Amino acid sequence: MNDDFFWFVNNRIVIPGVKGEYRFIHITDLHIHAWDEMSTEEEKERAKNAWVEGKENFAKSSGEPFGESQKISTVEAFEKILLLANELSPKAILLTGDNLDHMHPAGEKYLKNRLLEYAKKGGKYICVPGNHEAPDFDGIWSSELQVFDFKEFRIVAINDSEKTVDEETLIKLESLCKDGIPIIIICHIPLSTELCRSKLEYAGPYFYIDEKTDDSNGRKFVSLVKNSEEIRAVICGHLHRYIKCEISDGKIQIIGSQGMAGAVDLITVCGE
Ligand SMILES: [Fe+2]
Repeated sequence: MNDDFFWFVNNRIVIPGVKGEYRFIHITDLHIHAWDEMSTEEEKERAKNAWVEGKENFAKSSGEPFGESQKISTVEAFEKILLLANELSPKAILLTGDNLDHMHPAGEKYLKNRLLEYAKKGGKYICVPGNHEAPDFDGIWSSELQVFDFKEFRIVAINDSEKTVDEETLIKLESLCKDGIPIIIICHIPLSTELCRSKLEYAGPYFYIDEKTDDSNGRKFVSLVKNSEEIRAVICGHLHRYIKCEISDGKIQIIGSQGMAGAVDLITVCGE
């Protein structure tokens, strides 16, 4: 798509033995603010001004593209992303949280309608909640671990939006890791280990779950992801900056930048 709004990063997740090529679009941190006839004046005003300066500041501090084309509303940004998805027909759009800037009726209605329309036309979306959102949003994302099968691997959606995961998630993930089917995890908050800490610590501990965190579930989660042979990659967001790093040798973490400023990860999952 010829549109100055977007900037793309190509990412490959190589899983030895996978025969097909599976293409995904990864978008994160859309921070959608919508308003409609039911919104209060205050909500309308807030929606118009949301993130105008914030997204530019993030882009500038990261040295990422930002110009006039990125100065559009969060709803206009999402409309462009849907057009892009219609054109590229990915296996799924992966939305890794802060999809909405906060839970608000106009935004919820807008996002839900647009995603359901996309699904009606045969498109697939997989969402996880971010720290700006409620952990559950009926039919759109869930606080519970969800599994999406792509025959040769699975995408496992995990709610880590509060910098931790619940017991049930750990138990389910542990059990999935015994099935012998490769797993790609999508979540909101990045994981930090010895191998990638130097790339993340600029952001401060609010922005990642460190393998040395005091929270025992957080620690177990990072350790499981790091050590399980079945988990092959992590896809997440939260930083508003693109970073690709390794959680352990060869296990990549793709941290998408801000979708509201045109950042799109094109992800291909393939064999060697
Ligand atoms: Fe965010």
